[in-house]
Amino acid sequence: MTRSEEGGLKGLFVTGTDTGVGKTLVSAALVRAYAAQGLRVAGLKPVVSGMVEGGVYEDVEALRCASVPSRAVNECALYTFPPAIAPHFAAWQAGRRIDLGEIERFVREQAQDVERVVVEGAGGFLVPLTPTAGFADLAAALGLPIVLVVGLRLGAINHALLTCEAILARNLPLAGWVGTWLAPDLAAGTLEGLRDHMPVPCLGIIPYHTPLDLEFAARHLEIP
Ligand SMILES: Nc1ncnc2c1ncn2[C@@H]1O[C@H](COP(=O)(O)OP(=O)(O)OP(=O)(O)O)[C@@H](O)[C@H]1O
Ligand SMILES: [Mg+2]
Repeated sequence: MTRSEEGGLKGLFVTGTDTGVGKTLVSAALVRAYAAQGLRVAGLKPVVSGMVEGGVYEDVEALRCASVPSRAVNECALYTFPPAIAPHFAAWQAGRRIDLGEIERFVREQAQDVERVVVEGAGGFLVPLTPTAGFADLAAALGLPIVLVVGLRLGAINHALLTCEAILARNLPLAGWVGTWLAPDLAAGTLEGLRDHMPVPCLGIIPYHTPLDLEFAARHLEIP
């Protein structure tokens, strides 16, 4: 039995090879895919930085609106930092301290009224949250199966393999990876390289599309 089952937490933790690789798109699409199965599901972004015009956080808007039932901002995000900078530094600048235990409690609390949670990290897997801990520790505490989002651009194979190593070295459950086309054209060989070298299954490839369409993205994903 995994820790998530023991603690009653069901769903996924979504990390990525970098910032801006499609984690929010994939997280929101996974939320929609669960919803399409008739499940109540919460998309969560416990730590977010980078407020945009109108005082909103785009990731939080995407996830709280995709959720079923839709959620309030404070039922989706716990720590919000206006500057678009690394969260541990944003917290330090704001004179706040991020508490990992508090994030874990927040996720478990939000999970009470739904059947699945999809928790989006921020940036990549080893992004720090405090002077001594980061998203990798949060992922370990939550025990949810991890989905690695790989932005399909040049350099992605190396970033993806390094991230897999970091996850697997911690004995965490890596369910698979999802590739996102970040541009209309792919760097030749990227997809083939990932398919040949990634040690875990590919859960989907989301073709380039604009404007973004969650239902379209969800149709290209397999829930692990
Ligand atoms: N398949 C795709 N087609 C078109 N655009 C895409 C696709 N996948 C991702 N993008 C675009 O890439 C950008 C980054 O995506 P997204 O915001 O989901 O990344 P992220 O990893 O969540 O970033 P952050 O680290 O800020 O949370 C967005 O502008 C998104 O629209
Ligand atoms: Mg995001």
